[in-house]
Amino acid sequence: MVIGFVQTKGGTGKSTLAVNTAFSRYMNQKFSSIALVELDSQGTLKNWWQDREEMGYDPGNVSFHHISSTQKEVFQQGIKSISDYNDLIIMDIPGEGTGKLHTRFACAYCDLVIIPMRMSTNDESAFMNNLYPLIKQIVRAVPEKKGRFFVLPVFVHPLQNWQTCVNYFEEVLPSQVACLPAVFPSRSVYENYNRKGLTLKEYATVVASNKKLTAQVEKAITDIDKICKTILDRGR
Ligand SMILES: Nc1ncnc2c1ncn2[C@@H]1O[C@H](COP(=O)(O)OP(=O)(O)O)[C@@H](O)[C@H]1O
Ligand SMILES: [Mg+2]
Repeated sequence: MVIGFVQTKGGTGKSTLAVNTAFSRYMNQKFSSIALVELDSQGTLKNWWQDREEMGYDPGNVSFHHISSTQKEVFQQGIKSISDYNDLIIMDIPGEGTGKLHTRFACAYCDLVIIPMRMSTNDESAFMNNLYPLIKQIVRAVPEKKGRFFVLPVFVHPLQNWQTCVNYFEEVLPSQVACLPAVFPSRSVYENYNRKGLTLKEYATVVASNKKLTAQVEKAITDIDKICKTILDRGR
């Protein structure tokens, strides 16, 4: 299965979601080998992975791959060899600028495309202007891809009722795109856990003596598992 986190807009949580999905408890129970693939010349995840390697952290059943070429053949070859060795591929697909070609290849390649989006008219119009035209093209060319595009509401206040967010998006989204029945809450732990190449689970052990932080990380781990379960339920 190939899952892509896509947004032409930056700073919507793509990389955070990609990493945490790949290292989630849920996905690691369901899949024996997981590839985390970054298609971004900036290499946010690449740097994080290098930090991990320097610290000697155990990657478990997750491997990391960085593909920055925008040549279609190089992209396809890279993905092909990764899919030969992994039963789950999670792609972090970049936004503006050079992102366009990647976005097109990747969206066409993914079994499920998850689009992290804030509840804001700004994000909605960016989506309608940039990503939606690509989705329409893909669905026109490959009709089976219809029903494979999902918005995930992000930066949602932790006390906000998730159903309200979902209803909101179901109202404003075009028919080719649905809203996942889950949200990615805003929590400061997502901004802090990954310093020095840590995953949420590893960060939990680092802050184990701090009750408040531990409670936060546990909430985050639960958020991610719920998102993973919701994604896999849609993928069936
Ligand atoms: N759920 C969240 N709550 C709080 N901060 C978040 C959350 N998700 C991401 N962030 C922070 O927002 C910034 C952008 O996230 P990132 O995953 O890098 O976005 P993108 O890959 O879409 O550009 C980062 O500083 C990240 O730590
Ligand atoms: Mg990113």
